[in-house]
Amino acid sequence: MFSLSLRDGAHLVGLEVWHAEEFADHLGRAREHIHPWVGPGFVTVDVDGARATLKRYANRQAGDGARLYGIWREGLLVGGAMFTAFDAAAGSCEIGCWLEPSAEGHGLVTQACGALLDWAFTSRGLHRAEWHCRADNVRSSAVAKRLGMTLEGVRREAWPYQGVRYDKQLWAVLAPEWRALDR
Ligand SMILES: CC(C)(COP(=O)(O)OP(=O)(O)OC[C@H]1O[C@@H](n2cnc3c(N)ncnc32)[C@H](O)[C@@H]1OP(=O)(O)O)[C@@H](O)C(=O)NCCC(=O)NCCS
Repeated sequence: MFSLSLRDGAHLVGLEVWHAEEFADHLGRAREHIHPWVGPGFVTVDVDGARATLKRYANRQAGDGARLYGIWREGLLVGGAMFTAFDAAAGSCEIGCWLEPSAEGHGLVTQACGALLDWAFTSRGLHRAEWHCRADNVRSSAVAKRLGMTLEGVRREAWPYQGVRYDKQLWAVLAPEWRALDR
């Protein structure tokens, strides 16, 4: 219902339980592309699974926790951005994102995540936002860099995927750093 305009005529909109069928269709287009890089519970295989993810986020949002937003372009759900964690008391959050292949390479996710960071730092007064990604996820770490984040460290072999353990990078930006960025 309420949406934020992004470049390319795209929009960032709350991704809610009633979008379950649309979300499942989108995951059908995105699944193979995102599977190695996102949390295993996010990549479901049918409408019930998609609905369960949306309900989980809705329940967490009701407690002022995690939140999920979709990116629609030309009427099609093509990806999204989320607070995978949001802790107002601690002043910190973690941001995540994904796109189906057709939507990559247009700056949509950097803009969407920027909107989430603005809200977290400006409207909610948070102090720190984190970004976790597989160390070999070059496109993801490029987004963190574009958002002005600093690579704070690597959790060695912390990301298991199909029998192999990958390193995990931890990036973060602090509120004063975000405000000082020349955007
Ligand atoms: C990570 C992921 C969301 C990044 O997508 P992306 O399209 O590279 O990121 P953005 O939407 O910010 O777009 C940046 C790209 O658009 C280009 N671009 C075009 N116009 C732009 C603009 N106005 N502003 C910024 N970038 C722009 C950039 O040059 C860049 O392309 P390049 O890397 O080929 O140079 C995507 O690769 C993905 O879904 N991967 C699988 C899931 C995943 O890894 N999720 C993150 C888990 S931590």
